[in-house]
Amino acid sequence: MASAIDIRQLTKVYDGKVNALDGVDLTVKAASIFALLGPNGSGKTTLMRILTTQIHPTMGLARAFRYDVDKDDDKVRKIIGYVPQEMSVWTDITGFENLLIYAKIYGVSSLQRKKAIWDALQNMGLEDVANGPVKKYSGGMIRRLEIACALLIKPKILFLDEPTLGLDPSARKAVWENLRSFKKEYGTTVFFNTHYMDEADLYSDEVAIINQGKIVKTGTASELKRSLHGEIISFCLANNGTDSMHPSTAPLRQDLNILTKIRALNFVNDATVHDSVMDVAVENGEIAMPLIIDVLRSEGISLQWIRSTRPTLDDVFLKYAGMRHMQDQSGYHYGI
Ligand SMILES: Nc1ncnc2c1ncn2[C@@H]1O[C@H](COP(=O)(O)OP(=O)(O)OP(=O)(O)O)[C@@H](O)[C@H]1O
Ligand SMILES: [Mg+2]
Repeated sequence: MASAIDIRQLTKVYDGKVNALDGVDLTVKAASIFALLGPNGSGKTTLMRILTTQIHPTMGLARAFRYDVDKDDDKVRKIIGYVPQEMSVWTDITGFENLLIYAKIYGVSSLQRKKAIWDALQNMGLEDVANGPVKKYSGGMIRRLEIACALLIKPKILFLDEPTLGLDPSARKAVWENLRSFKKEYGTTVFFNTHYMDEADLYSDEVAIINQGKIVKTGTASELKRSLHGEIISFCLANNGTDSMHPSTAPLRQDLNILTKIRALNFVNDATVHDSVMDVAVENGEIAMPLIIDVLRSEGISLQWIRSTRPTLDDVFLKYAGMRHMQDQSGYHYGI
């Protein structure tokens, strides 16, 4: 697949001493959604500023559809849209008027302006509020208006710096649903920075983690999660004759027998039992879970509950960036 962005050994040193980017290599596929994750100060905004031609790299090369972002900046600006983290619309005028100003800035011809504006409003689901003052919009509507402004020229690459920061889950969903349908219609490549791991997980085709100016991991969200370890399935064994007043004094002989049987299964990496809860490490929980349940049932074991815990993107972030971004959201419960 053709690439939309190609970055080779990109370096940015501020004031001769701050190594904001330290030899970044990155490829973003055309028509994909790409998420850049990294702790504060890791170089995300610096990279986005170079790619959007706002600042020069110190060394290295970055191309947007074969245009050098440093040397062919005029050409690059014609094919990209950019929504900064800070507010980029005027609140005392209407949404339509904001788009009109941007259409003039972007040089959309007067003949095409009206259609381009209504297309952008429709793409972001804002037709009904277009003629209302922006100061009456919700945070989510303002963000959609800012994105609509960036979509006026139907960019080949859309850069979004923290597109949904501070929005509630339904407003975030609305932003992404509109973005996804726009991307589907026009084949736009979307490159975004985010602090929301679940958002990167749900909406991106590929993820890169940047730390101290270096790309430390790239892949799809599933690949990154799988790269940590498989899945832990916890089975709470129902009271199988234990002293219910002292369930944790020692694993039952029966439990130990079962443990041996479970460990012998070729798709099981490990199994432990504690307080009547058996944790089984497997690569693929969907396949393993029913087979383990069969073994337990054949041994006359009944179960109180089953819980599956998969590594999250937050765990991946913890490993490669050395910290957590958001609270862990792992843990899927299955009722019995
Ligand atoms: N204009 C500048 N002059 C000097 N140093 C800068 C400048 N802009 C950024 N830096 C430094 O470069 C490094 C990377 O900053 P950058 O803003 O790219 O990080 P970031 O990943 O976007 O962080 P955040 O998550 O906080 O937005 C930091 O050490 C920062 O202090
Ligand atoms: Mg930043």
